[in-house]
Amino acid sequence: MADTITITDNRTGKSVDVPIVDGGIDAAAWRGLLPGIWFYDPALMTTAYTASSITYLDGDIGILRYRGYPIEQLAEKSTYLEVAYLLLHGELPTPAEYDKWITDITYHTYIHENMRKRFLEGFHYDAHPMGMLVSAVAALSTFYAEAKDIDDPDIRMKQIVRLIAKMPTLAAACHRFSVGMPFVYPDNSLSFAANFLSMMWKVAEPRFEPDPVLVRALDLLFILHADHEQNCGTTALRTVGSAHADPFSACAAAAAALYGPRHGGANEAVIRMLTEIGSMDNIPAFIDEVKQGGERLQGFGHRVYKNYDPRARIIKKAADEVFAVTGKNPLLDIALKLEEVALSDDYFISRKLYPNVDFYSGLIYQAMGFPIEMFTVLFAIPRTAGWLAHWAELLEQDQKITRPRQLYIGEDARDYVALENRR
Ligand code: CMC
Repeated sequence: MADTITITDNRTGKSVDVPIVDGGIDAAAWRGLLPGIWFYDPALMTTAYTASSITYLDGDIGILRYRGYPIEQLAEKSTYLEVAYLLLHGELPTPAEYDKWITDITYHTYIHENMRKRFLEGFHYDAHPMGMLVSAVAALSTFYAEAKDIDDPDIRMKQIVRLIAKMPTLAAACHRFSVGMPFVYPDNSLSFAANFLSMMWKVAEPRFEPDPVLVRALDLLFILHADHEQNCGTTALRTVGSAHADPFSACAAAAAALYGPRHGGANEAVIRMLTEIGSMDNIPAFIDEVKQGGERLQGFGHRVYKNYDPRARIIKKAADEVFAVTGKNPLLDIALKLEEVALSDDYFISRKLYPNVDFYSGLIYQAMGFPIEMFTVLFAIPRTAGWLAHWAELLEQDQKITRPRQLYIGEDARDYVALENRR
């Protein structure tokens, strides 16, 4: 039979034909045949964790779409807040819906004074801003006790708006604290991205006027980072959300995953790697080291993309516009050469390792003046929209609590030995 897989239990001779739908087979179709048999699939390499209608990704040909819209079109024509609306609601907003959405988000940009004074100021003076952000997002749940009422759609939406709106404020507050600068309150006359730049960089001027090219570039980066289906952070969010934790706690879990260098921390690792390489002459030796397994080429490779990451292509183009304003990042030439060498080397070709979103984003962030420690924070701000779209979808799906099985490989049962008898 076409498009089916037959599973036969050789112990009983019973078989079941399971249809292949969209490249996968539904466990519900064969579970009954094989009670007590589990798939051992560490890191969920061959498991579709959920059904989702938010983001479509074809890693073999390098396609990314949010709610059906190609990332290239959104990057060129949309704004981050419009994309956030699209991810959450499934459709682009009408002009009236868009105006209301912007007003709602702008209304919620302030954070409780105790969040700043009592909580953020309690961190050690050299705390990493991403560590601060992860904790601050979790702490928000203690300010909004109603967030636990996840069954009420209005309360749900209010927390979504709060989180999207407060992320830039928290992110900038974490930065200002870590460099000993005073907190800057949101300027709600500015756009989402411009307001963030104001909170980052304002010193004594009455009003901060960011360069429109940089505002647009940041908004573009926010669009590109807004969602990426079942990545590690979103999977963490869905896992925690499946226990019906409030959205602040679920997003904090996702942000903690994002903090890791294999995930959102890679943009930071790319700049450290390029700085360490230091000059074109050192590239061949570095590539050799990577091929021998000593290092990873940061910003290269992806679990799903086996082709050029479409986001990296867009960022690479946008970099020129930013550098026209900020001056060229001196690490750019090393990055371009590194890419050229890697893409013509059989090690990378045979493993289908291409630049991912993190390879060029850090160069732009650095040219714009962001310290390296802020790079993952810059990723977390827009990814919040994606996390929350998945959180809302998860609740709509009424998914059971995530509770996988394990393959136990430890000791058999044994008797306790008293301390004095142990050797
Ligand atoms: N440099 C050198 N070799 C690599 C790299 C790399 N960046 N990535 C994968 N490989 C090799 C790996 O050694 C393995 O080789 P072999 O088959 O000989 O053992 C093969 O390619 C397959 O790699 P894998 O580790 O099994 O692949 P994975 O899907 O588990 O890992 C990854 C994906 C993104 C963690 C990995 O490619 C990596 O560590 N990349 C560098 C970090 C990075 O750029 N992360 C950002 C990912 S995109 C944004 C995000 O998710 O936040």
